[in-house]
Amino acid sequence: MEDNLLASASSTDRGSWNSKLGFILAAAGSAVGLGNIWGFPTQVADNGGAAFLIIYLLTSFLIGFPVMVAEITIGRKTGKNPVGAFKALSSSKFFPLVGLWGVICGVMILSFYTVIAGWAFGYAFEEIFYTIGLDQAAVWIQDVGNGSKNALVAAVFMLATIKIITGGVSEGIERATKTMMPLLIGVLLIMIIYVLFQPGSSEGIVAYLLPDFSLIDSDLIFSAMGQSFFSLSLGMGALITYGSYLSKKENIPQAAAFVTLADVGIAFLAGLLIIPAMYLAQSNGVEIFKDSGQLIDSTTLVFTVLPALFHSMGTIGVIFGVTFFLLLSIAALTSTISLLEVPVSYAIDEYNVTRKKSAWTIGLGILAISMVIAFRPDFIDYFVIVFNNIGLPAGGFLISVFIAYIWKTDNALEEMSHGFAGIKESLFAKVWPVFIKYICPLAILYTLIQMIGIF
Ligand code: PFF
Repeated sequence: MEDNLLASASSTDRGSWNSKLGFILAAAGSAVGLGNIWGFPTQVADNGGAAFLIIYLLTSFLIGFPVMVAEITIGRKTGKNPVGAFKALSSSKFFPLVGLWGVICGVMILSFYTVIAGWAFGYAFEEIFYTIGLDQAAVWIQDVGNGSKNALVAAVFMLATIKIITGGVSEGIERATKTMMPLLIGVLLIMIIYVLFQPGSSEGIVAYLLPDFSLIDSDLIFSAMGQSFFSLSLGMGALITYGSYLSKKENIPQAAAFVTLADVGIAFLAGLLIIPAMYLAQSNGVEIFKDSGQLIDSTTLVFTVLPALFHSMGTIGVIFGVTFFLLLSIAALTSTISLLEVPVSYAIDEYNVTRKKSAWTIGLGILAISMVIAFRPDFIDYFVIVFNNIGLPAGGFLISVFIAYIWKTDNALEEMSHGFAGIKESLFAKVWPVFIKYICPLAILYTLIQMIGIF
């Protein structure tokens, strides 16, 4: 009976996932994006190689996964956007503001995300222009410092996102993710094999896989925590929103485990490609590090290293280059959709606006901020610190506190029992509450407090 009520409540205006796989695909589509292929390898290169990898794995599995389960459960229980969800589960005046903070983080992250996604999309064309001899066009499209070009491509990207969002939540995302993910993994694997056979790549493999534990400091832990939250799409209610379209038949911990594994797995593969490729590029004369050992430009690192790699492969490199950057663009698109869906679902639920009006108004508003970033990409670093590295873990901290001490883990486990029949007797029911009550909030709080010392 309850199932039916919920299905009808969520499938009328708000939409719901089409297939059983729909949610998993959409959540994985949200998670896998620029964070994996642009963000993660750059952070590895900037923060001590394998030492960063280890802390990132720990923060993703031990902190990210429990918070992901928490977000999806809140979303499915309430069938609401992040603000409405907190309102529905408590009479607290404070926690809806946490939802609102998530909406704001979504808006600000999307504003710079579209600019970087535009770069990735542009590089697919750069490879083509370069091959057919349109050298000037190739130079134009690859110039990440060209404000009007950045603005144009970011606008194309935002319009595509708005268009998909106005069409409803499911079909486009599900279909795009289903083909994009296996293809992306395939291309990554082939490229990794190619790179590993190049003389000079071993230095990169050592840097990526052999940890120097002395490099672990509070700065590194802070970056790894932020990267995990960003990459898993956590802390701003994206998964509360996606969870709100989820049917009661779905097993939440299992779905969250799949999404976490897929996301971390793809980030790991991207690192295995890009870190050795970075050392190769460097031995071919591409300047990557300053004398101080820091990256010359962390925002554009991946867009320097990968094209250099594709060009070094000859004609076949063009095919790989175009395929790779197109796949990366699709991966970014399934993430921008989830970023925009957060404020859009908030406006639909809380202000009774139509999906179409909400998507266009908010989407174009965010695009206005993107226009500023298109001309000033140096702002991205500041946005990353405030909205990713501080904003998302802070959101995750408050979500954990909310479940642990306001809504209570028993109620959350009760909600999870739909789709996971024996949950009460499972190991999960013993371990997850410990993480949500103590380990996640304390670890995040510790990291954020340490951060105060960094600045
Ligand atoms: N997870 C996405 C990526 O790794 O590119 C970015 C992202 C999407 C962050 C959705 C936050 C979010 F809510």
